[in-house]
Amino acid sequence: MPDRIDELHEEIEAAPIESADDAEAFRIRYLGRKQGAITNLFQQIGDLPPEERPTFGQRVNALKQAAEERLEAATARLEREAQARGPSIDLTLPGRTPARGSLHPLTHTLHEILRILRRLGFETYEGPEIETDWHNFTALNFPPDHPARDMQDTFFLQDAPTDDPAVLRTHTSPGQIRVMQANEPPLRIAVPGRVYRNEAISYKSFCLFHQVELLYVDEGVSMAQLKQVLFSLARALFGADVKLRFRPSYFPFTEPSAEVDVWGDGEWMEILGCGMVHPNVFRAAGVDPERYSGYAVGMGIERMTMLRYGIDDIRVLYENDVRFLDQF
Ligand code: DAH
Repeated sequence: MPDRIDELHEEIEAAPIESADDAEAFRIRYLGRKQGAITNLFQQIGDLPPEERPTFGQRVNALKQAAEERLEAATARLEREAQARGPSIDLTLPGRTPARGSLHPLTHTLHEILRILRRLGFETYEGPEIETDWHNFTALNFPPDHPARDMQDTFFLQDAPTDDPAVLRTHTSPGQIRVMQANEPPLRIAVPGRVYRNEAISYKSFCLFHQVELLYVDEGVSMAQLKQVLFSLARALFGADVKLRFRPSYFPFTEPSAEVDVWGDGEWMEILGCGMVHPNVFRAAGVDPERYSGYAVGMGIERMTMLRYGIDDIRVLYENDVRFLDQF
């Protein structure tokens, strides 16, 4: 005759455990310390005649073990299932529109500039941000102790070899050297990138900023072509009635050199440097200056961005303040 212990065995094997609540109810019902069915059986041992106690005890122990195993297996299975389902979400919450991201104004301006330049025939090339002193200065006709180096004080990397120190590039102009070393003219390239300077931080300068370098090398390139490209770029970027001013200037790597200002907000704003590539630069990069000529341009993306959007403090471009970024 099946007794209470056999009945409980059957119950335990058949009890549905489909949720954490089921598992807890199962535990309380069979294994609970106070009123659990198996606990109750243990308490009855004392009422039995002594010769029946060992067998009864063994059977109740086996029952308890079966209940514990059943509970453990069910809990493990529930956990596996929950993990496979992934994080639980509340499907009753009202729908929300996800916040729309947007490109940073600097990225936007940079993309726009490169897009216009591509139409003008300039391919994009990117050089390294950690440059050798030679590419950043020497090959660009800054002799080792030339005072022009001081205008572009930068960060030197400690572990670099002392005969050719590594520096954080101060401009994208070393890209000119790398492109000319690796390719034969004619060349028409744009080098975008981040540059670094050891500068006092203020509303108009930061220790890092972005530039796009242009280089055009071919036979018989003239300054008139340089002006034409800059006008085309400025018109596309700032509108057909943009006013530009070319001022004579000095850079070691161009001769003659000029700086270009754009008229905006009642004043002239400098946006770029440019000029005809110096013969020494051609020689350093392995291009024959007797045969080829070329122009180069270096423009500041921050300046262009500030002009386009009427931003008056460069630092807001790096603070990642969503109240600012939200406006674009
Ligand atoms: N590399 C210069 C700077 O960062 C800018 C520049 C001036 C680039 C004249 C040029 C150039 O290519 O021809 O100050």
